Parts: sequence; structure tokens; C-alpha cells
Amino acid sequence: MTTPPDAGLRARMAGYYDILNKTADGGDLYAKLLQGPEDPYPIYEKIRALGPMSRSAFGAWVTTDHTIANKVLRDRRFGVRLADGQKVPEFMNFDNSMLGLDPPHHARLRKLTIPALNPRMAEQWRGRAEQLCDDMIDEVLAGGGQFDLMTEFAQKLPTTVIADLVGIPDELRPRFSRLSRRIAPLLDGVVSFHKVRGVDLAIGELTEMFRHIIALRQREPGDDLISQMLPAVAEGKLSMDELEPLCMFLPLAGSETTVNLIGNGVRALLAHPEQWEMLRDDPGSHAAGVVEETLRFDPPVQQYRRVAHHEIELAGEVLPVDSELAILAAAANRDPAVFDDPHRYDITRKSASGTLSFSAGIHYCLGAPLARVEAEAAIRALATRLPRLRPAGEPRRRDSFIIRGLLHLPLSTG
Ligand code: HEM
Repeated sequence: MTTPPDAGLRARMAGYYDILNKTADGGDLYAKLLQGPEDPYPIYEKIRALGPMSRSAFGAWVTTDHTIANKVLRDRRFGVRLADGQKVPEFMNFDNSMLGLDPPHHARLRKLTIPALNPRMAEQWRGRAEQLCDDMIDEVLAGGGQFDLMTEFAQKLPTTVIADLVGIPDELRPRFSRLSRRIAPLLDGVVSFHKVRGVDLAIGELTEMFRHIIALRQREPGDDLISQMLPAVAEGKLSMDELEPLCMFLPLAGSETTVNLIGNGVRALLAHPEQWEMLRDDPGSHAAGVVEETLRFDPPVQQYRRVAHHEIELAGEVLPVDSELAILAAAANRDPAVFDDPHRYDITRKSASGTLSFSAGIHYCLGAPLARVEAEAAIRALATRLPRLRPAGEPRRRDSFIIRGLLHLPLSTG
């Protein structure tokens, strides 16, 4: 699945960072974003001021415009691969399953996965998610007044739910969690050579682990996604070479994102005490609003890319074949043409569901219903059972530009 990192890679990465830093120092705003700034939102506004579409000296076209982004995501002249079907070269060569495929292969994989992740199935996880949240809060309360929201709560919920959903046997779960955390930098965009090597080793171990689990489910099918997908393999609709990456991609896509939706939500609530009080006074009515507004205001996936498969004219610019367009979803979510008073965090906002936080078009997040169920359960449980929640130390941010979230958020139960 991956090629081992080598001296050539180390040199290419060093070259990449050298150019990135020089371009950013030269004032290129997109290059500044790729450096993973503490607060990207002021940079988004400066990019917006350049117009609906701008060209970064770093190579990509960039948009913050909600209407353009929405249109591009639904336009079949754009894809995720190069026009000739090759993958866009990256430092980390991970097979991200359907998210890395254009039609027609994309539709086949997606269709096979829908039964396990449709909104009705997501709803069936609500009880389990609520129970897990309650158990974790019991542990927090038993442990005294202080805890780390990220490591003791937010990370555990989606990892457990996805492990149940995919069908990871209990005895392999601690190892699965450790390996999942080690491959997490995959979603962070370009990272250091050291991290690439760590990710590569973890992918190798995780692949072996899934081969073992798939063989186990072939012998003893269960009520899980792997067991549900195996008949498609037997019928020739899905190859083993596609099932393995799918099994590895889902936990990554489903946990590293949802973890940060919970963390970003709690951080936003504590930074806006009046919103926290409104939630705390009526968690049942406001938990869903918190989730939607957090997705808009501080989304876990800040940006993604599309590639022009034809020469395309867009907003007065001509994009040549194979040009990359960075869709700054977090900025589109604050487009003043679509959202009133866009920089205000308001959990009662009515228009929040028009965000691009789960993308749009054919790659629209398959896990969106499940992510909403989990995050709602988490926010509701925290507000109901820990009404005096407050910050108890400096949060530590995750060092990345694609995924935005926290590694640590120390809190006190009050
Ligand atoms: C808050 C949580 C989540 C966020 C913000 C999120 C965000 C996204 C985004 C932005 C994309 C599309 C990227 C693009 O268009 O290039 C995507 C795709 C996807 N997500 Fe999620 N996701 C979340 C949770 C989940 C969960 C819980 C699962 C599974 C259990 C999941 C599974 C997927 C899959 C399979 C795709 C690929 C869909 C396709 O290519 O057709 N996601 N997600």
C-alpha cells in the first residue's frame, strides 16, 4: 500500500518545505495556510478579499466562495485524480478508498458501503453512543475534578463506535486505537519525514491486522461492516484489494474528524459562555444546533481539493487541465453572501446546515449522519451531567492545516 520512505523522499520533502516557507515569506496567503497557522480565519478573510478565485504562487487555485465551491463539488468536469486517472502525487501514498476515486469506480465502492452508514443505521447507534458518553462521564467524575476532554472523552467515543461498526474484535481494540492514532497524520496534509516513516510502519501493521480480521469474519461472520461486505467480494463486486483499504480508511475518516467536532464544539461553547448557558439550560433542544453551528464555525475538515479534468472557465479565470483547486470549506462556511454575521457563533442559527463541512456532490461524507448522532450525544451528555464545566489549562492544538482540532483540552467539572 505504501512505498518505504527513502533518502529521495527526505530530500523532496526538504525541498517542498523550503519552497513553501519562501513562498509564505514572500506573502503568499495560501502558502501561509499550508504552514498550519494557529488561527487560519484571518488568513481566509485576506484570501476572500482577493476575489472569489485566486491563484497561489504555490501552484493551486483557491476559493473561499460558497457558491463557486458548491458548484465545483457538483461539477463532473472536476475530479479527485488527474485527468488521465493517475493519483495526484503525494508524500504519503495511502489508498483512501472511494475518496481517492473518480467515477465510475467511486460509485461502485460507495454504493456497497451505503447500507452500513445510511441515516437509519446511524440512528441505531444513538443508544450505544449515549451509553458510552455516560460511562465516560462516570469515569471522569470518579477521577476527581479535572480531566482532558480530548483523551478521556472525545477520542474514545468515535474510536469505539467505528470499531463496533467495522467489527474489530475486543482483544485487538487497544492495538487498533494505538495504530489509528499513529496513522492520523495522514489527514494532516504534508508532515515531517519522521512522521511519514511512522505512518508508513503503522499502515503496514494495520494492514496485517485487517487481513487477520477479514479472515476471521470469513470463518465467523458477525453483525458488522466487514461481514456485510464479504458477500460482495464473493460475488466479484468488490476485490480484496479494495476491501482492505476501505476497512482502514473508514476508521480514519470516522474518528479523527468526529473527535475534533466534539473538541471544537466544547471549545467554542466555553469561549462563548452565553451559548453554553443556553445549551446547559435545555440540552435536548440545543445539542443538535451546537453540532451544526460548530460544523459551520470551526469545521474539523478545513479544506479539500479538486482537479480540473478539462480546461474550465470559472469566475472569469481559465483553469487548465489538471490544475488543482483548493476549496477552503471553513472559509466558505463564513461567506457573508450566505451566512449572516458569519463570524458569530450562534447555536440557534437557522442556516447552519448549508455548510460545506461534509463536502457536497458525489463525495459528500458518507458518515455525516453517524458523526451527527455521536457529536449530539456527546454535547448533550456533557451539558446535562457536567453543567459547571470550565477550562482548566491551556488547550494544545493539533499541528495541521487540513484537520483542525485539539490534542488536549484540560477541563474542570466545577
Ligand atoms: C465530523 C465528522 C466528519 C467530518 C467533518 C467529515 C468530513 C468529510 C469530508 C469533508 C469528506 C469529503 C472530502 C472531499 O470532498 O474531498 C468526507 C468524506 C467521507 N467521509 Fe466523512 N467526515 C466526518 C465523519 C465521518 C464518519 C463518522 C465516517 C464513517 C463512519 C465518514 C466517512 C466518510 C467517507 C466514507 C467519505 C468518502 C465519501 C466518498 O468519497 O464518496 N466520515 N468526510
